[in-house]
Amino acid sequence: MKKKIKKNIKKNIGKIVKIVSRDQTDVLLNEQKWYKPLKTIVKQAKIQDLEKMRKEAARNPLKFWENAAKELAWMEPWKKVLEEKKAPFYQWFVGGKCNIVENALDRHIGTPIERKNAILWEGNSGKSKRFTYGQLYRAVNRMANGLKHLGVVKGDRVVIYLQNIPETAISMLAAAKIGAVHSVVYGGFSAHALKTRVEDAEAKVVVTSDIGYRRDKTIDMKSIVDEVLQGCKCVQKVIVVKQNNEPTPTAKKRGSRRDTPRRVFPETHMEPHRDVFYNHLIAHESEECPTERMDAEDPLFILYTSGTTGTPKGVVHVHGGYMVGIHKTFQTVFDIQSKDTFWCTADPGWITGHSYTVYAPLMAGITTILFEGVQDYPKPDRLWNMVEKYNVTIFYTAPTLIRALMRYGDQWPKKHNLNSLRLLGSVGEPINPEAWRWYYTVIGQKKCPIMDTWWQTETGMFMITPFVTMSLKASSATKPFPGIQAEVVDAQGKKVAPGKGGYLVIKNPWPAMLRTIYKNPKRYLETYWKKIPGWYLTGDMAHKDKDGYFWIQGRSDDVLKIAGHRIGSVEVESALVSHPSVAEAGVIGKPDPVKGETIKAFVVLKKGVSIGARHGEELKEKLKNHVRHEIGPIAVMEEIEYIDQLPKTRSGKIMRRVLRARELGQDAGDVSTLAD
Ligand code: WT7
Repeated sequence: MKKKIKKNIKKNIGKIVKIVSRDQTDVLLNEQKWYKPLKTIVKQAKIQDLEKMRKEAARNPLKFWENAAKELAWMEPWKKVLEEKKAPFYQWFVGGKCNIVENALDRHIGTPIERKNAILWEGNSGKSKRFTYGQLYRAVNRMANGLKHLGVVKGDRVVIYLQNIPETAISMLAAAKIGAVHSVVYGGFSAHALKTRVEDAEAKVVVTSDIGYRRDKTIDMKSIVDEVLQGCKCVQKVIVVKQNNEPTPTAKKRGSRRDTPRRVFPETHMEPHRDVFYNHLIAHESEECPTERMDAEDPLFILYTSGTTGTPKGVVHVHGGYMVGIHKTFQTVFDIQSKDTFWCTADPGWITGHSYTVYAPLMAGITTILFEGVQDYPKPDRLWNMVEKYNVTIFYTAPTLIRALMRYGDQWPKKHNLNSLRLLGSVGEPINPEAWRWYYTVIGQKKCPIMDTWWQTETGMFMITPFVTMSLKASSATKPFPGIQAEVVDAQGKKVAPGKGGYLVIKNPWPAMLRTIYKNPKRYLETYWKKIPGWYLTGDMAHKDKDGYFWIQGRSDDVLKIAGHRIGSVEVESALVSHPSVAEAGVIGKPDPVKGETIKAFVVLKKGVSIGARHGEELKEKLKNHVRHEIGPIAVMEEIEYIDQLPKTRSGKIMRRVLRARELGQDAGDVSTLAD
């Protein structure tokens, strides 16, 4: 065995010698290849002594976070950094008064940053817009005043259901500025998903658009909202951003399939007394609006995410700790310099979009890019074209997107000058070594380190992540951020040996942590703190190697990751069961080379529903469409199989583990609880 390893090492070192460049050395250790940082990157890095930072933060995490908080503007300082009395309902910066928007916008006004680009936006069609910090500040103030005039007061919930357009960020900032709580619902969700979120949040106002663009399609956003609001008691006003005067998407060749005229929409239906156009609302509003003084622990937003039950969880984040956490992680991990143009491809409908597309870059006073389109429309070089056009220095995206683009071949990125890139980032799911190496070699041209950041909607900020000065291993998120104690443990909470898989837990509180599940503190306790008492349970499986590097293996619960999007098995099952032909359904994730996972559903039909060979296939198509209608196009259902009976425990729980094992030809493990 030992001989074999030695032989392997020799073989690999042979290979590596060939690619060692002047600045770049790859060393092989224990069959794990190290990617050492470039000297040029290390030289200019802000954090020169990472080990010292780690040690200090480990010795006194509260001091570490307190110092981070001091880098931001506060209206009144805090009296206590961390209050643990009601743990795990932790409180940070107790007694402090602040508003994240003061840091994201107000404090740049009157400084040279005011004239810098805050947002560069590119639409699906290629059209672009830009906002300097001054312009963004004024746009946000007008919207904030508009919201006030509609009756929105501190603490009210504002649901934002838009595509990735500047008004999405403007609405978030405007709501936060006046102390309202925003809840962004991803524009790709459909009516049912939107309805559950609007109702759970008891939103007073919904911000939407008449239509949205995606590839050569138009999505009738306003009709979805109208459907959702039928019979809804909480929503009093709907603000509609007009998109319909946009030019027709992308120039095309004559006679090509795309050369169809854009669908013409009838005049948008506007409900009297309820609906108002965004442009009309802000037309006469003042460009100044006072920023609400918030308690550090006042909620900033609710963001819904999937868990193990059918109802999405409203994850609550607050002004104080959240702004401190995302500020510190962003500045240090991405080694932010004032000239950076940062592009995070995440839609503001997800946590990545909140923390690192909108808030953190604005707090840092750098330029952030918003992109409404998709990665391969109109061509597979759309992103690389934009990197070149806007001189992007830091590019942050998801593995699924890298894998999708990798498949089109190197010729697409090679058409473009990507020399502006300095750093790359990855998030959302484990990145496989093949995709990592392609990203590193072809996109980063072996000079950009990849920051593989592990975190969650709940954590608010990066938790396990490299720094630019660290040596990397392809597909490892490396080590916990300074001040964070992460560990891999067994079901009893006992630390497992290096190399052994287990549950990933966090052992100490951090400032950007979720505070609760909206209106459901019990669920907060049970989901995150009960199974392994005292520690935060992430829901992921991982292992730690002997160098202390973490390798994330995927979810340990029934949460699926479809193209980086988080969807609960139970949500999909509920959607299926709401179809008149379906009695029961069990859903599993099946490995997919591009999307990471796709959905496979096992369906038990209702008695009396007959399916001949043809009928069966037709019904499958209907069921796929039904799920799409209930949840949205992100719920990609690849396969449906009819079965007579689902494997269940004696207490009636579906054993998805058994379905998965059967599907993938694996051992199902302990099946003693199986009922039949
Ligand atoms: C889940 C959280 C937080 C950003 C977007 C996703 C998976 C996230 C990584 C990574 C391996 C990752 C985990 C986690 N995940 N980042 N770098 N490597 N897995 O947020 O929708 O709340 O999903 O995404 O499974 O638990 P989310």
